[in-house]
Amino acid sequence: MPMRTPTFIAAALAATCFLPACKKDSDNATPSGNTGFSKTDYEIISATLNLPESAFNYTGFNLPAHFLAPPVASTDNTPVNTNPTTNDGATLGRVLFYDKTLSINNTIACTSCHKQANSFTDPSQFSQGFLGGLTDRNSMSLANARYYVNGKFFWDERAVTLEDQTLMPIQHAVEMGMTLDSLEKKLSTKDYYKVLFKKAFGDENITRDRISKALAQFIRAMVSYQSKYDDGLTALGHAPAPNEDLPGFTQQENQGLRVFTANCAGPCHNTELQTMPVARNNGLDLVYADNGVGKITGRTIDNGKFKSPSLRNVMLTAPYMHDGRFQTIEQVLEHYSTGIKNHPNLDNRLKDPATGVARPLNLTQQQKNAIVAFLNTLTDSKFTTDIKYSDPFK
Ligand code: HEC
Repeated sequence: MPMRTPTFIAAALAATCFLPACKKDSDNATPSGNTGFSKTDYEIISATLNLPESAFNYTGFNLPAHFLAPPVASTDNTPVNTNPTTNDGATLGRVLFYDKTLSINNTIACTSCHKQANSFTDPSQFSQGFLGGLTDRNSMSLANARYYVNGKFFWDERAVTLEDQTLMPIQHAVEMGMTLDSLEKKLSTKDYYKVLFKKAFGDENITRDRISKALAQFIRAMVSYQSKYDDGLTALGHAPAPNEDLPGFTQQENQGLRVFTANCAGPCHNTELQTMPVARNNGLDLVYADNGVGKITGRTIDNGKFKSPSLRNVMLTAPYMHDGRFQTIEQVLEHYSTGIKNHPNLDNRLKDPATGVARPLNLTQQQKNAIVAFLNTLTDSKFTTDIKYSDPFK
């Protein structure tokens, strides 16, 4: 029977390809241990979504050495026992993040205010919610949100975990205007969510707890680690000593690194991710219209204190500060150089230790230019264009 042989060979080849060793590997694909969707399930999700047959790799990327050891590694806020990140969980989180049906009138998704090209913040000073109303603060970059040691979220740190945070914009009166009851019902009517929840959590139950966990997993998977600065650190092989240059940096970038380390890093924007460990007052105003942490705790000693997210990709995240008051990085540097206000809660590091009054950095124009050159080395265009963080809807 001449027809038998080719059919048999094709069938044998197809069977062999179920072995992990035969699995196709791209940069983003999970190398092993990851089972794809069944054929029927893949057809269901493919009607609406552009997802790979086997999840992208959200957990095992090749992080450089400076991410894997302290200080950066010790700032990871992943609750490994209750919500470890998985490739299927983050995939579900990605779909939820880009889904406008999370808002009551299907007009706003998380990404409306957190755009990948801007390192997941909004280039507008304030963002528009589902009825066109504006938020009262500037949206925040989500890059490396995972590496914030106290694990609290928002400018005023009112969300004590990322899992708590993710359900808040959905229910916010200006942002998305939903109730969690109607959210669960609404998502349960969609077959692709049944498939995705089952893949991520083992069964088709669509609950608020799982929604919050999947969104948190996707956000924790947003790790920016491929900037010029990362390449420099990897080439050097250790944390640079105060006067040590980074290989591959221009003279100006290296000068910027030194000026930044001397004036801005220290206990403020520190670690290789330029993250501040707690919220602080940086002397923006003498009297704050928005008291930040003080508004939440009711304590005057917390007035004017705000979280500072990681400065990774900071050149893409304008405008700056909690109220987006500075349109450019030059205005930010001018604030630290000459504009710090003598607020009673002004952080010690911005005060003269002898007199207790504000100590402006008085940077020269050359130093400011060098800092900007250094901040540009924190831009990671692989992160802002990576398909695994992009809109999956067709
Ligand atoms: C209408 C605009 C808007 C929408 C929609 C929105 N956000 Fe935000 N997001 C903001 C603003 C503004 C802030 C800062 C608010 C504050 O601190 O009070 C913020 C802050 C955050 C933070 C805190 C980051 C940090 O480092 O502390 C996270 C995380 C976040 N949003 C995730 C989400 C998720 C997940 C969704 C979708 C479920 C979402 N956002 C929807 C505007 C929005």
